[in-house]
Amino acid sequence: MNLSLDFDVSQIPTPCFVLDEKLLINNLEKLNYVQKEAGVNILCALKGFAMWSTFPLVKKYLSGATASSLHEAMLCYEEMQSSAHLCCPLYTDADYDKILEISNHITFNSLSQYERYHAKALEKGLKIAIRINPEYSDSPAALYNPCIPGSRLGATREKFGEKLPEGVTGLHFHSLCESNSYALENTLNAIISKFDDLLKQIEWFNMGGGHHITRKDYDIEHLIKVLKDFKAKYPNIKDIYLEPGEAVGWQTGYLVSKIYDIIENQDIYILMVDTSISAHMPDCIEMPYKPIILGATDYIKGTKKYRIGGMTCLAGDFVGDYSFIEEPQIGDYIVFNDMIHYTMVKTTTFNGINLPHIGIVKEDRSFQLIKSFGYQDYKSRLS
Ligand SMILES: Cc1ncc(COP(=O)(O)O)c(C=O)c1O
Repeated sequence: MNLSLDFDVSQIPTPCFVLDEKLLINNLEKLNYVQKEAGVNILCALKGFAMWSTFPLVKKYLSGATASSLHEAMLCYEEMQSSAHLCCPLYTDADYDKILEISNHITFNSLSQYERYHAKALEKGLKIAIRINPEYSDSPAALYNPCIPGSRLGATREKFGEKLPEGVTGLHFHSLCESNSYALENTLNAIISKFDDLLKQIEWFNMGGGHHITRKDYDIEHLIKVLKDFKAKYPNIKDIYLEPGEAVGWQTGYLVSKIYDIIENQDIYILMVDTSISAHMPDCIEMPYKPIILGATDYIKGTKKYRIGGMTCLAGDFVGDYSFIEEPQIGDYIVFNDMIHYTMVKTTTFNGINLPHIGIVKEDRSFQLIKSFGYQDYKSRLS
């Protein structure tokens, strides 16, 4: 099957997440351009991209990482060798002291969490923010919309008084999802209309993630203008942070799998591959979305109808329907495109399925296997 890849796929063990270093560098260069031109700081949101073998590279371009749990903060501290920005929906006694040791900025999701935990953070010298809920979002799906009625994410304007609580020097919002700069502009206008008086009291502002900056049609120059205009309106705000996850890993690699069986049922040909939609690409089911497969298209009427079947016993562990340019055979590779952001962090060992290998295609097109998993990774999660 012609996959139109500029590296030799036969050297890759399957299943394997394969990051293309060249594509990651392209994304990092774009993000760094925004940082420089707009005078803002871009953090990598680890929930979306946490392939830590690339952190030394990521760190050359971005301003660090943002974490939404103790373990993400620890990964940032250990592998990016920098203190994390923290924005957790909930802090707990069990994690809090450790979090304070390895973070430099902390955002509280509610005023009650601020009340419970802010004193210790101030004592340790962390910068403190409250997450606001702008009650405005263009998010395409309720699953990713923090502004749905009854949302638990962020404090709405009526929760605040005229003055920010003691020690609070920042505000944070996250309500974008795969959004363009025009959605950011609209969101900022909604925030300004509600929170203008509070924005005038802060020194730093975190504009969350959801900025799809590395997408081909993203209007980067417009983003820079929006950010510069915002900075000019609020000269008191010295530091602006954006924390995209998806945009870091966007279209930087693949999940490479192999066909081991082909099952025909009612004129549908199911390509049984050594991976799982449910365990290795759960977003395809959760979101849901149909992944792009190299050498295939959406099903075209009149052609052979293909589905991709996963290794687990879950009846719904399949994705389709597709047409293939060349007829697939047992032993062929099925290469899912754009499988680096979120996919890699969300894998499970459901059904005892082994986790995919992780590897990198280097700039010189050689393949480097970074990590393989095994039985112990499955067993150690259970007892
Ligand atoms: C608070 C916060 N920041 C950043 C992100 C990263 O968003 P994205 O990967 O869409 O850029 C998320 C995603 O859920 C988030 O909740």
